[in-house]
Amino acid sequence: MKRNMIAAVALAAVIGAGATTAIAHGGATGVVKERMEAMEALGDAMKELTAMMRGQQDYSPDRVRTLAGTIDSHSGAAMTKLFPKDSLDHPSEALPAIWSDWDRFSALSAQLSTYAQALAAAADNHRPAGSAPGGMMGQGTMQGQGMMHGQGMMGGGMMGGGQGPTAEMLAQMPPDGVFFHLADTCSACHQSFRKKQN
Ligand code: HEC
Repeated sequence: MKRNMIAAVALAAVIGAGATTAIAHGGATGVVKERMEAMEALGDAMKELTAMMRGQQDYSPDRVRTLAGTIDSHSGAAMTKLFPKDSLDHPSEALPAIWSDWDRFSALSAQLSTYAQALAAAADNHRPAGSAPGGMMGQGTMQGQGMMHGQGMMGGGMMGGGQGPTAEMLAQMPPDGVFFHLADTCSACHQSFRKKQN
């Protein structure tokens, strides 16, 4: 009897652990769940890319291409099709502005694809810089470089569906410069079209 209790509790713990994963998105279903999962995949890819750009993980052009491919596969039409009109079911954090400003939303989603492809194209341009290992230092360096590249390309003021640097220009850039544009596209879209979260 007691044994069975313990077994039951242990089993519940295991099932519980599984269930936690399944409801990681707060009970989202359908297309909301699908896009949250797609976004999570983007987040994971960006996490690993960030680690490589900061020198916290060995830089591998092949790995960069793979991760860029993952991002590309979830952007453009693959992303916009997960946002059918007024799909705001709980617990979605999407904003109605997506559909009132669909042109800009879909332009940002297409831009993500452009930058992901450019990152793959630029993956071999990596030059091991005086690697400042880890933490804030690494981040400062990465963003500093990104900012400079951004300014170098007139109208780094991107967004608004405007044209950023061309694919050819991007393919010549160091990968961390392209990466900056990529990350900036995530933020730009979230700023306009996702509820603020802290
Ligand atoms: C074109 C707009 C757009 C772009 C570009 C975009 N996102 Fe999102 N993202 C959203 C919206 C809208 C939501 C909220 C979706 C919802 O809750 O229904 C979201 C949600 C998320 C979430 C939370 C998912 C969850 O489980 O709640 C993560 C993580 C995320 N995005 C990561 C990224 C990353 C990383 C990038 C860039 C590589 C990116 N996104 C690019 C619009 C975008």
